[in-house]
Amino acid sequence: MFPAQPSHSIQVIADSVLQLSNYYIQNPNGETPWRENFCQIAYRNYYFPLNQLRCAKVIERGQGVNFFEDLTYFVDWGSGPGTASFALAENKKLKSQIKKQFLVDISSGPHKSFADLHSNLISPSFSTTLDFKSYLDQKSSTCFVFSYSMTEIARLPAGWDQAEALMILEPATSQDGRKLLQLRQELIEKGYSMWAPCLHQLACPLLKNSNHDWCHDRFIVDAPAWFWQVDQLLPMKNKTITTSYLLARKKLAFAYPTNNGRLTGDSREEKGKTRQLVCRNEEREFLTWMHKSITPQTFPRGEIVEISDDFEFKSNELRVKYPCRTR
Ligand SMILES: C[S@@+](CC[C@H](N)C(=O)[O-])C[C@H]1O[C@@H](n2cnc3c(N)ncnc32)[C@H](O)[C@@H]1O
Repeated sequence: MFPAQPSHSIQVIADSVLQLSNYYIQNPNGETPWRENFCQIAYRNYYFPLNQLRCAKVIERGQGVNFFEDLTYFVDWGSGPGTASFALAENKKLKSQIKKQFLVDISSGPHKSFADLHSNLISPSFSTTLDFKSYLDQKSSTCFVFSYSMTEIARLPAGWDQAEALMILEPATSQDGRKLLQLRQELIEKGYSMWAPCLHQLACPLLKNSNHDWCHDRFIVDAPAWFWQVDQLLPMKNKTITTSYLLARKKLAFAYPTNNGRLTGDSREEKGKTRQLVCRNEEREFLTWMHKSITPQTFPRGEIVEISDDFEFKSNELRVKYPCRTR
């Protein structure tokens, strides 16, 4: 995922990352400036491996529910260097299943500048335009992938939502994350079924019952020593990274038992109790461990747990009497 050796000095990489980060802040909907040297340095050493890790973790979540079954054609839309495509091609189980990878980006910049990386992809083809007809020939086995690209794509052409499967990752910010939750609702209305991260097809409780919450998972970063030297020079820290995502298919999703819940918040210590936001239906609820009656547990954000039916329901809290078990 991370190059064994960086392509430039630690200082040059850190400066380039800052320059690209500032560009994104000043141009929130602007296109990635692929032709700029600083962008290529920052992407190769920093954004590319971090986004690839995010994709790899989301793919693992999908594999946990068999999301990728029978999918053989992958269209990486707004591919950049092919970040999501690499994560797919490097996944041991998917590698033998994928027949073809299409990389589509409005700019030819990433395709040309990162060409040296592409030999590891599976029968790849590159394009600057999306020709739906050819991609949708294999409709029932096609997955459209958007990794940090929806936020940049001003208007999605009609037909983008015809593929059997969609894998969408977006920045874990309130603005992009909540837009993704709105999209989730639209996709359900179009007949898609949510396979992950959602455990149900009801309205999203974070969108329905809050004005600022957004759904995202958090992952631990395992990187070589040089990466942490870059990290030390940056204001944003990457010991853990977050992402907001959706895995949707026309095929009906796996039905979770009703006693399962997904932790959609980080664990919080409060006076006399430990609470963690949990999603199991359209209500915004907290799994709660009252310290006087049970030893508190903490789970990583995104984890799915089994909750014993024997809990006390108070306000928006499920006060558990027995420990929860991870699935
Ligand atoms: C933030 S980059 C993400 C790159 C890559 N998917 C990743 O995860 O690292 C967004 C990409 O979307 C591309 N893009 C923007 N508008 C597009 C459009 N209308 N059609 C195709 N690609 C587009 C940009 O050129 C850029 O490469």
